[in-house]
Amino acid sequence: MINQDSVEIDIINPSAASDETLFEATLRPQKLAEYVGQEKIKANLKILVDAAHARKETLEHILLYGPPGLGKTTLAHIIAREVGANIKITSGPAIEKAGDVAALLTNLSENDILFIDEIHRLNKIVEEVLYPAMEDYCLDIVLGKGAGAKALRLDLPKFTLIGATTRIGLLTAPLRDRFGMTYRLDYYEVPEIEQIIKRAAKILNITIDEGGRAEIAKRARRTPRVANRLLKRVRDFAQVKAKGEINQRIAQEALALLEVDDLGLDNNDRRILEALIDKFAGGPVGVSSLAAATSEDSGTIEDIYEPYLLRLGLIARTPKGRVATPAAYEHLKKPVKKPGTQTLL
Ligand SMILES: Nc1ncnc2c1ncn2[C@@H]1O[C@H](COP(=O)(O)OP(=O)(O)O)[C@@H](O)[C@H]1O
Ligand SMILES: [Mg+2]
Repeated sequence: MINQDSVEIDIINPSAASDETLFEATLRPQKLAEYVGQEKIKANLKILVDAAHARKETLEHILLYGPPGLGKTTLAHIIAREVGANIKITSGPAIEKAGDVAALLTNLSENDILFIDEIHRLNKIVEEVLYPAMEDYCLDIVLGKGAGAKALRLDLPKFTLIGATTRIGLLTAPLRDRFGMTYRLDYYEVPEIEQIIKRAAKILNITIDEGGRAEIAKRARRTPRVANRLLKRVRDFAQVKAKGEINQRIAQEALALLEVDDLGLDNNDRRILEALIDKFAGGPVGVSSLAAATSEDSGTIEDIYEPYLLRLGLIARTPKGRVATPAAYEHLKKPVKKPGTQTLL
């Protein structure tokens, strides 16, 4: 049985829950042509892939960054498929020692793709093994200790590293510099999210009309993962209340029950905005103070809540910290600050 409570609370959290892996794999587009939106990235990737093909070269190292749930992992799989390469998947926190990364690298074959998720969480020792591996396809190892130690250089097969991160700012400069291409994934447009919902509904055999799609898309945080998840929850609701058929009214009712508002904000977003307005008089305030006031982790605020609130223009960044914009006051139906106390950009 799935834990209903935890699913409910995290409905809008764009990070994948552990029980979602299978569901996500079912819905994951397999080809560039099925990957909705991110047109510039797709066009650039196509050229990169075709050029590598034409020159029979290994694809350059690629860094993908952007908020969770926007399709970084999906894109890495698609790239591998497009170049016909094997993909090995790992993540920053999973590689603890120099030996771990050495084992990964020596097990690669020519043209393989090594995908490192959360690459900003690699430790320094591991990073240093990666530098020569990325640059010259070689591995420096030291045998023995002290005066008798010998340095040895091993050749590695030519491989492509694809790194993904939600926090490009936490990546060290030397690591960032070793990627040939860096792509920033942005939030999707609502019609793109509608298209993603349409595709997912077809795969999952869900009956949903245009109104239903539009309603879910509007509230899906411009994020494919959230859109798919909301679709699944609305389907459950429709199963019980409307013989499984989703229209706009059913979607509205289901989403109201999930406490996802018409901007796609959930209780946590609203709590953060409320704290900003009520406890800090609209700001400016630093993320750590905001985190303390809302009992949230500041990394979670920066990774998950803030990017979307910034994107919606409900908060703004100033050199002194975050401020609530008039749109935030309006959305929460709070009286706007008196003129003269204005601190907005
Ligand atoms: N461009 C897209 N088109 C269609 N579906 C997408 C797209 N991007 C992501 N998805 C869906 O969203 C889910 C989450 O995407 P994922 O690649 O895991 O995000 P990230 O790695 O950025 O957190 C995938 O399972 C996939 O079904
Ligand atoms: Mg991912």
